[in-house]
Amino acid sequence: MKFSNDFFFGAATAAYQVEGAIQEDGKGLTNWDEFVTIPGKTFEGTTGEIAVDHYHRYKEDIKLMAEMGLESYRFSISWARIFPEGTGDINPKGIEFYNNVIDECLKYGIVPFVTLYHWDLPLPLEKEGGWLNKNTIDAFVSYAKVCFEHFGDRVKHFITFNETVIFCGHGYLAGAHPPGIKNDPAKYFQATHNVFTAHAKAVLAYKALKQYGEIGLSHVFSPAFAVDDSKEHTFAAMHANQFGINWYYDPVLKGEYPEYVMGLLLKNGTCPVMLDDELASIKQAAPLNDFIGLNYYQPIRVEKITEPFEALEPTRENSTGAPGNPSFDGVYRTVKMNDKRYTKWGWEISPEGFVDGLQLLKDYYGDIRMYITENGLGDEDPIIEGEVCDIPRINFINDHLVAVKKAIDAGVNVKGYYAWSAIDLLSWLNGYKKQYGFIYVDHNNDLVRKKKASFHWYQEVINTRGENLHN
Ligand code: BG6
Repeated sequence: MKFSNDFFFGAATAAYQVEGAIQEDGKGLTNWDEFVTIPGKTFEGTTGEIAVDHYHRYKEDIKLMAEMGLESYRFSISWARIFPEGTGDINPKGIEFYNNVIDECLKYGIVPFVTLYHWDLPLPLEKEGGWLNKNTIDAFVSYAKVCFEHFGDRVKHFITFNETVIFCGHGYLAGAHPPGIKNDPAKYFQATHNVFTAHAKAVLAYKALKQYGEIGLSHVFSPAFAVDDSKEHTFAAMHANQFGINWYYDPVLKGEYPEYVMGLLLKNGTCPVMLDDELASIKQAAPLNDFIGLNYYQPIRVEKITEPFEALEPTRENSTGAPGNPSFDGVYRTVKMNDKRYTKWGWEISPEGFVDGLQLLKDYYGDIRMYITENGLGDEDPIIEGEVCDIPRINFINDHLVAVKKAIDAGVNVKGYYAWSAIDLLSWLNGYKKQYGFIYVDHNNDLVRKKKASFHWYQEVINTRGENLHN
């Protein structure tokens, strides 16, 4: 079961979910800072104002990560700390903060893996149309360049975007993320195209600097499987994968959009405005994209909708991954199945789906380098006699690491695994009740940190390079 020495054992976080200090040292407000103040948007009205105070406690947190033996830490930069207005003047304090975080990682030999955009858009840009406004593309590329120039001497792994399908899907279809728009497929597809363009232009800018690191992007990876092998449900799975996988990976890896999806968008009038220079950048950047990051939590089980049924009104509860919803185009719906296991939040637990999904990606895209940039269990961890006994998380990560190893042995090119999350953090919509970390944060006692059972377990996994994982 041993993983090779060049495989990263890591863990991840995102700025909004851990940092807090949303208006400190010159940071500008973001779309999320505003969105969470709308009543009912988040569980118990939680906000990222303090989060887990990583902004002030990063030294303590990184020290704990080092003690756990973490080889790489994936974290995101908050754009609004670097450019409080989204464009214009750089905030030196923002540069200083991330320099400190990077240097702190390097002090312990932890490789920083940096995400440039994990959903927190500077508020002035959101007010001007956010990802629907083509100016946001240029603003992102300028911001990305500043990050490459200031951090690229020490950061050799950049992720441009985290999970386009989630922030665009929740932003323009479910209305559960900013800007909170519901059921607008034309806007949704336009936003995704603008993001792919921003990614491509950032890749070109990065390569022009010749920093000799790697750059890619991370997607949520929820492969669709048919509920049975009937023709109609098999079609539903193909359709779901075209929209959920190919629409997201083809422009990045092949430099073009999947014909199947394009055909349907043209037919129903939801095809985005795609300018020639944008398509040219997407084409040019594809062979330069070094890797893809996969955030795998669960697969989806789908069935073709054959009879009209009443769709659920999208809400915070039903828009965050639990099955039960029809696809935006009404072709299929996701289904909860009796023979599958689910988390308390209704997410399927399926290491088998992970192996099959990775194989599917290899079939689509060949040898592309992959990192598992997120995988983990959201749970309410039991505390027994003062100890956080997160045994279900240990089992979950064990089984998913075994799945990764199986995929590697079958020839899939996976180079690292980042558990979500390094430390307990703020779930965007589910507050602090849903925990993911190896490090517990006590919200009743001054945010004191405490090592969970999984902390010691992961330490051992890293130490032995996975030798003791069990099948
Ligand atoms: C991923 C995001 O989609 O899922 C993370 O990249 C997020 O930021 C994680 O926290 C888990 O989602 P949730 O809704 O359980 O917090």
